[in-house]
Amino acid sequence: MKSTVLLTTLSLLLSPASAQTETFEERCEGLTESFSAADTSILIADYVTQGTNITFPETIAAGNTCLKFIISSTDMCRLRLNVSTSDTSSVIVEVFLPTDWEAEGKRFLMTGNGGLGGCIQYADMTYGTSLGFAVVGHDNGHAGDSGLPFLNRAEVVKDYAWRALYTAGQVGKSVVNHFYPSNINKSYYIGCSSGGRQGMKAAQDFPEEYDGIVSAAPAVDFHAVIAAGGHVFKSTGPAGSATHLTQDQWNAVHQLVVAQCDGIDGVLDNVIEDPMKCQPRPEALLCGPGQTWASDQCLTAAQVLTVRKVYSPIYGNDGKLISPRLNPLTKEFVGYRAMYGGVASYITEGWYKYALYNDPTWTVQNDFNWNVVDHDFQQDLYGVGTDKTDLTDAKNNNTRILMYHGLADCLISSENSYRYYERVSRDMGLPSDDLDEFYRFFPISGLDHCTGGDGAGFVGGSVQYSTPGALNVDPADSVLMTMVKWVEQGIAPETLTGRKLVGGVVTGARAHCKHPLKTTYKGTGDPNLASSWECKTA
Ligand SMILES: *[C@@H]1O[C@H](CO)[C@@H](O)[C@H](O)[C@H]1NC(C)=O
Ligand SMILES: *[C@@H]1O[C@H](CO)[C@@H](O)[C@H](O)[C@H]1NC(C)=O
Ligand SMILES: *[C@@H]1O[C@H](CO)[C@@H](O)[C@H](O)[C@H]1NC(C)=O
Ligand SMILES: *[C@@H]1O[C@H](CO)[C@@H](O)[C@H](O)[C@H]1NC(C)=O
Repeated sequence: MKSTVLLTTLSLLLSPASAQTETFEERCEGLTESFSAADTSILIADYVTQGTNITFPETIAAGNTCLKFIISSTDMCRLRLNVSTSDTSSVIVEVFLPTDWEAEGKRFLMTGNGGLGGCIQYADMTYGTSLGFAVVGHDNGHAGDSGLPFLNRAEVVKDYAWRALYTAGQVGKSVVNHFYPSNINKSYYIGCSSGGRQGMKAAQDFPEEYDGIVSAAPAVDFHAVIAAGGHVFKSTGPAGSATHLTQDQWNAVHQLVVAQCDGIDGVLDNVIEDPMKCQPRPEALLCGPGQTWASDQCLTAAQVLTVRKVYSPIYGNDGKLISPRLNPLTKEFVGYRAMYGGVASYITEGWYKYALYNDPTWTVQNDFNWNVVDHDFQQDLYGVGTDKTDLTDAKNNNTRILMYHGLADCLISSENSYRYYERVSRDMGLPSDDLDEFYRFFPISGLDHCTGGDGAGFVGGSVQYSTPGALNVDPADSVLMTMVKWVEQGIAPETLTGRKLVGGVVTGARAHCKHPLKTTYKGTGDPNLASSWECKTA
């Protein structure tokens, strides 16, 4: 006994500054020496304490809409890497390594991006580290929030389609396994919008990289989503044209839709539980003889037709269905600006202009037509369409996929997610009960694009953590920890709980049912309580 102790003491004394005696901080800053990977250079290796304001000088200099700073939620090691993906492309990768990682379950979390952009999703990263995950974020192969870097740079488009995500995951995982004494136990992904698409890309093409994928409002069937943006602008026309509606006029449309459809679910709360049952009749706003918007708050026939077009399925050449209709709710400013404001969606325009045609003079206004859309589908640059409906590899790899979509999403129609889910079901020959084993879809009423909206839409998901009051909601109820429970304890979610947050205060909750069940009011009880609703077959 004694001699063993002596030997151990001796070997400790004799060993040079070993991994065991180095502090976390030293090991972090030593990563510049100790870590290496192919095609990778280390830009930053910094120990950061909880509460530190981490600023991003390159974002500040560029003046884009990416986050300019974040407050660290924990003591951690921050690593920033530059990984080249080809001779003409590279991805910037951030890895946040919290001190309590091993005690918190040795979990790895990958985050996604948004739009055509390369904004690193630092808010999602910080949420992940607050729960003890080692988290990776990346710029998807180009800095900033626009598609301009695609111009004549096919490799950058390839990074955007899938390679940046894959590469950042590989490098990120090797950093985590190198840095901590033990290896990653389970790996997760969260993202919304383009980030949702990236999650589905992983589910379709490299599911073995993740045990759980949380994909929100995914831009799957990417070319359809892009086309919808062009169709909406061609329908509304530029500001001032006869077909265009102002934001006030769209707000009137929103009120009309609420008036016509809010009662369908039995509760008047500005939330439409099942918008697919809502077929608004914009003609109710049509001006009579001698009436105008200024005097009577009514719309011209041309404007009414615009509303009809926007809320109708989109058909292209030869009557081919391109995309489901937009959701019949248009209140939020973000949706207005990006889709209805009389300027072509910068996402749609940026994609066609810089990625598809490499022509800076290309515009939706002058050049958009159904041949463009057909061409985009045919090219499907680097598989960015993310439209594969055979998820057999995900199923066989035990990868769990949790998809959710706001039913008041002004940018990407929630019907796009229903459509994808039903196609997976048909193409795999798996009814919902069988899909449930690995793939579940939760429609979330009253949630706009990723965040915002009038309902109980806060699920603790991607892009939601900067919502005022987000931290008042128990992280155990977040969609991320719901996924952890499914993967690690085998407890699969039947509902996804959303909170209604008003000015930072939780004012209601709803347990949103798993598709194809419908979240249904029981007929009595406070509708703000989750217990007043149940899941029923339609
Ligand atoms: C963090 O630093 C940036 C840049 O100096 C500054 O603009 C920002 O206000 C700081 N944030 C906080 C919460 O102090
Ligand atoms: C990353 O590396 C590439 C070369 O692989 C280089 O062109 C680029 O400027 C680097 N970016 C940064 C931010 O260091
Ligand atoms: C897991 O997914 C990969 C593709 O990412 C596939 O090649 C492999 O066959 C799958 N594993 C199983 C057990 O099906
Ligand atoms: C990995 O996670 C599983 C599921 O939670 C758990 O049973 C197992 O003990 C963990 N393994 C390690 C090495 O931490």
